[in-house]
Amino acid sequence: MTEQLRPDGSLRHLLTLETLNRGQIERLLDRSQTFVRPLGEPPPRSALLAGFTVANLFTEPSTRTRVSFELAAKRLGADVVNLEVQLSSRVKGESMLDTVYTLQALHVDALVIRDAEAGVPGLVADNVAPHVSVLSAGEAHLSHPTQGLLDALTIYQRKQRFAGLAVAIVGDIRHSRVARSAWQVLRALGVTDLRIVAPAALMPAADEFQGCTRTRSITKGLEGVDVIMMLRVQKERFGEAEVPDGEKYFAAWGLTPERLALARSNAIVMHPQPMNRGVEIASVVADGPQSVIRDQVRNGVAVRMAVLAEVLGTRAGAGARP
Ligand code: NCD
Repeated sequence: MTEQLRPDGSLRHLLTLETLNRGQIERLLDRSQTFVRPLGEPPPRSALLAGFTVANLFTEPSTRTRVSFELAAKRLGADVVNLEVQLSSRVKGESMLDTVYTLQALHVDALVIRDAEAGVPGLVADNVAPHVSVLSAGEAHLSHPTQGLLDALTIYQRKQRFAGLAVAIVGDIRHSRVARSAWQVLRALGVTDLRIVAPAALMPAADEFQGCTRTRSITKGLEGVDVIMMLRVQKERFGEAEVPDGEKYFAAWGLTPERLALARSNAIVMHPQPMNRGVEIASVVADGPQSVIRDQVRNGVAVRMAVLAEVLGTRAGAGARP
């Protein structure tokens, strides 16, 4: 596994939350919170990363993650390039690494990578020059570390604690990198009642999600929880298996007001988006008073600012740039 830390212990890459300890995660969350502003106020800006260049290299669709990485880098004063993958020479057969070496020759300092293939962010991290950082923006079904951090930040803002919370992750867990990163971050932060709630076909393998309880009953899964994380049915990752019918899925697994009422009365509802309204979640719930789905989006920029500041900021602080 790729080492994410520099020899001095500072964060160089962010590929997974799995190997970060509680202190390292809390530091990132505390720093993220300093970048959060209420809507209507201007977002924070600084010149911390002036002179640095961040490249977004996305080979899978993305709206929120790509835009928020771009805004995060710009609000810290960095230059940003967005690689349009359809136009890139990767489609002409150039390997991902050659694209990366090209960007490196253009003085890119951080590469933000989303790819459907497992291992790509790690491969890139293992091959870049020592001054370059790699940040995963979603790796196959395995890892989405900045999403895990923004989910934890959103929970903390509403609940002011992690200990003692009951959290249900509901739906297509098998194919979800969001669920895997959520499990890693919430476990590290001390959540002990973490429930995996899914139909048999969408359950993860038996050796995954250790320490979670598993249930195939949405009623049991939601009972008394403080946090409900709904997931999109990841149609693009089903391969040969049958994609569930939307209406049937909603009837059995959709978060309706009736099902939401099983949770605590102050429970929050989360969804990483994109949402399939009327499939995994009813619109009245997604737009209702318990939903924090838009807070998640806002927090995404703050988390990505914190991560960029963390991985590049030590170099900025050391006077690496004029
Ligand atoms: C998620 C993803 O791409 O993993 N989206 C996101 O980054 N917020 C979830 C999804 O696609 O369902």
